[in-house]
Amino acid sequence: MHIWPLSNNEKTDFFESSNVETIEQIKQEALKALASASDEENIKSLSVRYLGRKGAVTQFLRNISELPAEQRPEAGKKANEVKKYLESAFNEALKRLEAESGAARDRIDVSLPGRIAPQGILHPISQITRQICDIFTGLGFEIAEGPEVEADYYNFEMLNIPKNHPARDMQDTFYISEDIVLRTHTSPIQVRFMEKHRPPVRIVAPGKVYRCDSDLTHTPMFHQIEGLLVDENISFGDLKGILTTFVHRMFDDQTSLRFRPSFFPFTEPSAEVDILCVMCRGKGCRVCSQTGWLEVLGSGMVHPAVFENVAYDTSRYTGFAFGMGIERIAMLKYGIDDIRKFFENDFRFLSQF
Ligand code: FA5
Ligand code: MG
Repeated sequence: MHIWPLSNNEKTDFFESSNVETIEQIKQEALKALASASDEENIKSLSVRYLGRKGAVTQFLRNISELPAEQRPEAGKKANEVKKYLESAFNEALKRLEAESGAARDRIDVSLPGRIAPQGILHPISQITRQICDIFTGLGFEIAEGPEVEADYYNFEMLNIPKNHPARDMQDTFYISEDIVLRTHTSPIQVRFMEKHRPPVRIVAPGKVYRCDSDLTHTPMFHQIEGLLVDENISFGDLKGILTTFVHRMFDDQTSLRFRPSFFPFTEPSAEVDILCVMCRGKGCRVCSQTGWLEVLGSGMVHPAVFENVAYDTSRYTGFAFGMGIERIAMLKYGIDDIRKFFENDFRFLSQF
């Protein structure tokens, strides 16, 4: 007997057989077809074929009214059961298919070459800053910090540079307002620290500083590290000793440095320290402006006027201070001839360190 498709002349025949048996056969045929359906389209067309508006199960249900009254309840009940059963069978099959293709998507192909995660590095200036700090903490110094947007009062006045003092011209200052500046050096940190601490003091204070200045060895933003040591019986000899030890540890025992008399309003006497130019080994080149030496820091014995500003007893305490250019140290350490390279953010340059 044919169950499906139903043609009009088969209809009579169809309803002559036991109705419960017929709907059971429709179910079995549908399940068999479903078992060999391999893709979504197949399953969907089977669903239409059995459960669609003209589908076998729908037809069966529609024709129940033509059955003898006593057969109707059982046939109807059975047909509805089959309808529900097939609906969920088709849905399950679709879900399973979806899950399988998802799993295939997530499957790992172990034969593919691995992806290397790019790894960042510390900026060379950060690396050098850490090395410098490590050397000084090894010598018993603490790390201090201060703000980059600074009061004129700390950047200049407390450092013995009153308003209209000619020494203000030594540094081209970026003014935020009449009383607020971008700090031009790390020296204001000395004052801020001494205001809050009594001697003995041993600090280094790294940070960004700003000046309206730009060429091969100057950039408008650069880094300094301030040093300050205050105690009883501190002499210029201690300053020379600490800085010489620093240079020998940072570079090597053979690295020459020289102390050159200089002037700062907040130190007396003052000296600038130069290191033999590593680019030309002292012969003279564009980095050292043909002098053979590169200035790396300013230093001196803290001026009594500064101590008085922070109420330190000048009859008991003396001290030295220095301010070092971190980029200059980095240029010498890595043999870089143009300071601007540090701030161009060319990854090919930065990734060498
Ligand atoms: C000062 O800034 C003083 N505050 C240093 C100081 C501190 C003296 C404590 C005494 C006691 P100077 O302007 O020379 O000094 O700068 C110090 C160092 O910063 C220089 O030796 C140089 O290495 C570096 N430097 C100065 N200007 C620039 C710049 N535009 N770009 C890069 N490095 C610079
Ligand atoms: Mg200088």
